[in-house]
Amino acid sequence: MKKVKQIAAVALAAVLAMGALSGCSKYKTLEDIQKEGTIVMYTNAEFAPFEYMGDGNQVSGVDVDIANEIAKDLGVKLQIENVAFDTIIGAIQSGKGDFGAAGMTVTAEREKQVDFSVKYVKSRQYIVQKADSNLNTLDDLKGKKIGVQLGTTGDLIIDDNLKAAADREGTEENGVLFESGATLKQYGSAPIAAADIATGKLDCVVVDELPAKSIAEKNEGYKAVEMTYADGSTTEEEYAFCVAKGNKTLLDAINKTMQRLMDEGKIDEYVLNHTTK
Ligand code: ARG
Repeated sequence: MKKVKQIAAVALAAVLAMGALSGCSKYKTLEDIQKEGTIVMYTNAEFAPFEYMGDGNQVSGVDVDIANEIAKDLGVKLQIENVAFDTIIGAIQSGKGDFGAAGMTVTAEREKQVDFSVKYVKSRQYIVQKADSNLNTLDDLKGKKIGVQLGTTGDLIIDDNLKAAADREGTEENGVLFESGATLKQYGSAPIAAADIATGKLDCVVVDELPAKSIAEKNEGYKAVEMTYADGSTTEEEYAFCVAKGNKTLLDAINKTMQRLMDEGKIDEYVLNHTTK
C-alpha cells in the first residue's frame, strides 16, 4: 500500500512538473478542436444586445452570431456555456472553454491573463437611472448608491474611484468618489441590478452603452446617459474575443473570421438585429 502511495506521489509530481514546464497550457489547439468537431464559447448572457436569453431559452446576440460564423468557417459545432462574467477568463485559462465572447473589453490587466482577438466594437460607460435623475458625470455619482455587474469595467472604474490615493495604481490623487458617501453594490447581472433603481435601493447602474440603452428601453421611467469625467472626457473601451495565452492557431482563425465580418459590415448588421431586444 505504501509503495502504491509513493508511486502515486511520484506520478503526481511528474504531472505537476510537466504542467509547470509547459506553462500549464491546457488549451485545445485548432487541430484538437477540429478533430473533436466542437468549439466551446464561454459567455454571460446578461448583456443584450451582445448576449442574452433569446427565444426558446437559447443564448442569442451579436457575439453568438459572430461565434456561429467562426464555427462555420472551422466546420465545427458551437457549444455555448453561460456563466458568471467574472469567471470567464479563468475558464479560458484552464482550458474549460476554447474562447470567451462576452462584450469583453480589452484591458492591460486582462491582457496579462489571456490573448485577445482584433477589436470589433467600441463602447463607453453609461449611467442607467430614473428619467428624472440628473446623473451625467462621474462627479455626479458622489454620495450615490451605485450598482454594477461584478468584474466589469463599470465595476473597476467605480471601485477605483472610491479609493484613497494610496490604494490606487498609477495616480497620486484620491478617487473622485472617495469619502463622498457613495456606495458600490456588485451584482451578477446589470439588468437585475437595475431593478433596484425602481425601489430606491440604488440610484443608478453603471454599464456599457448598448446594454444600458437596452435596460432603459425595457424599463418604463428609466433613461441611460453617457458617463463622462468632470472635464468632459469619455470612457472609451473596445471589445474583443479572448483565447488562452499562446493559443495562436485558434486566435488566427478567430481573427480571420472576425476581420471578414467587419469588412462585410456584418457586425453592424448583427448589432442592429439584436438591438431593442
Ligand atoms: N465590457 C465590459 C467588460 O468587459 C462589460 C462586459 C460584460 N459582459 C457580459 N456578457 N456580461 O468588463
